[in-house]
Formats: sequence, structure tokens, C-alpha cells
Amino acid sequence: MTPRKILIDTDPGQDDAVAILLALAAPEELEVLAITVVAGNVPLEKTSRNARVICELAGRRDVPVHEGCAAPLERPLVTAEHVHGKSGLDGHDLPEPTMPVADLHAVEAIIHHIRREPRGSVTLCALGPLTNVASALLKAPEIAERLGGIVLMGGAYFEVGNVTPAAEFNIYVDPEAAKIVLKSGIEITMMPLDVTHKALITRDWLDGISTLDTPAIRAVCGWLDFYERFDMEKYGGKGGPLHDPCVIAWLLRPELFSGRHVNVEIETQSELTRGMTVADWWRVTDRAANATFIGDLDADGFFDLLTERLAAL
Ligand code: RIB
Ligand code: CA
Repeated sequence: MTPRKILIDTDPGQDDAVAILLALAAPEELEVLAITVVAGNVPLEKTSRNARVICELAGRRDVPVHEGCAAPLERPLVTAEHVHGKSGLDGHDLPEPTMPVADLHAVEAIIHHIRREPRGSVTLCALGPLTNVASALLKAPEIAERLGGIVLMGGAYFEVGNVTPAAEFNIYVDPEAAKIVLKSGIEITMMPLDVTHKALITRDWLDGISTLDTPAIRAVCGWLDFYERFDMEKYGGKGGPLHDPCVIAWLLRPELFSGRHVNVEIETQSELTRGMTVADWWRVTDRAANATFIGDLDADGFFDLLTERLAAL
């Protein structure tokens, strides 16, 4: 089977790191053409450093890491050091990366790969604010019909918000970018908090994988030990949600997930509900469906996949 060609746009972040490792651990199924980084969880220079640290941890210095937008399209940057730590990868220290930043700006790199690869053959995996993705669509609108699809972590409906009562972080940070992406006509699969809050780390799982004792597993365990404390304090101790790995897991085993193809609009005008993803789950409007909004997953199957693949790194 020919591997699916993917681009990963990301703001690492511990959960981004697990998602990237999961992708790099599946070379027979996924060909990572490039990683593009965006400001989000932490500022751009740190998401760039972190992405290169993750590639070197996976032994994949061959994967180009391109730096992208340092701020949202129209708004000041909002970061999440309170969740991810000052570095964005608190919990496990690794050496500074020696691989260079790739020459092309991330927006140019996204456009380049989509133009170069056969129509429909590239899937874009968006794990952070959508600033780079929207900027590429604004600069080269024709890529929308060439892109095979976008799978993104973002949004919330029944689960409501995690950064405000109404909005999930990735969408909240750059709602204008999210609106451009949702209106692009591209086939979109969304992993909102509705599903990622069911992908909760358990102590048993972490203890189980820690017995594998490889450099990648040691990093993942350290990162997730740190990362999950915020959500456990906030939501009452059930475990930290593995948001971004849901995107890659869907590519590898879509049967683990279920959702509905519905209309999703983005609130950009109201300060109270900025970044809200208004999902017409019950189809009460005649607004055209523009995204597959994922609401559920087989959590056991998801964590079994993670264990199996991360052990192979
Ligand atoms: O709301 C969760 C999302 O915001 C995840 O992608 C996390 O990494 C942060 O970017
Ligand atoms: Ca992220």
C-alpha cells in the first residue's frame, strides 16, 4: 500500500508531540512530507524548536520543519504556557536540536507541496491554530481544490470550550483563520473536544507503556505526566485528554471514530463567544454541511494503537 502523503501543521505542545511521533512511527501508512509550525501553545520560536526536537527524538532529521506565522491573522497571540509549561514541552528535557529550520516559510511550503503532489493526494493535519493554513489558502486559493482533505483538532459543541466557556483553544486563538478554512470547500474532518475529552490518559496506560523504556517512551511519559496535571485539576482528576493524537489516529484507524457530516460555523464577531464552533448537529438549519464533526471514539482501541506504534519508535 502506498503511504498517504501528509503535511502536519502544529504548535508543539506535548499532545502535538505524541501526534507527530505517532505519524513518524507509521512510515508504511503515512509519508510526512513536511512539518509546518505555528504560534499557539507557545510562541513560534519555541514551537519550531520543539518540532525539531521531536523529529530528532524519532530519528527523523530528514523531515523538513518550516516556520510559519508568529501571530494570528488579525488578533494578538494567546498562548497556553499554563498547560504546556514555558518551553511547551515541559516534563522531559531533551538536547537542543541541531537540525536546521527549513528554508521555505511554512505558508510557502504548504502551497509548494500541494501544488507539486498529484491532485487529491495530500492530507493536511492541523494540530494548532489555523493561521498558516488560512494564510496558504488566501495566498493560493487554487490549492483548496487540489488538497485531498484537512483533518484538524479544534472546536467543541456538546463539550463546550476549554479556553473560554464557548471556545476551544485552537479556534479561539485565530477564529478568522478557522472561518476561512471552514468556508474553503475542502473536505474537513474535525476532532473537537467532544471526542478528544474521551481520549483521556489513564495512570494504568502510562504505567504500562513506561515499562517499554525507550528514549521516545521516556519522553512521552515525562511530557504527559506534566501535561495532564492541568486538565486533571480543572476537570476533576479523570486524566489528561490526548487531543492532537486523535487526528493521526483517525488517519491510521478511522473505524475507531464516529461523527456526523454537518454545518459548522465560526463565531468571529462576539467577544463573549469568539471562536465558538456552532455545529448544526441536529440539522435545524439549511446551512450546507461543511465538516465531519467527530463526537466519539473507541478509547481502548485508540490507546492500544498508541502503545503499539510508540513502542516501534
Ligand atoms: O484545545 C486543545 C488544542 O490546543 C490542542 O491542539 C493543544 O495542543 C492546543 O494546541
Ligand atoms: Ca496543538
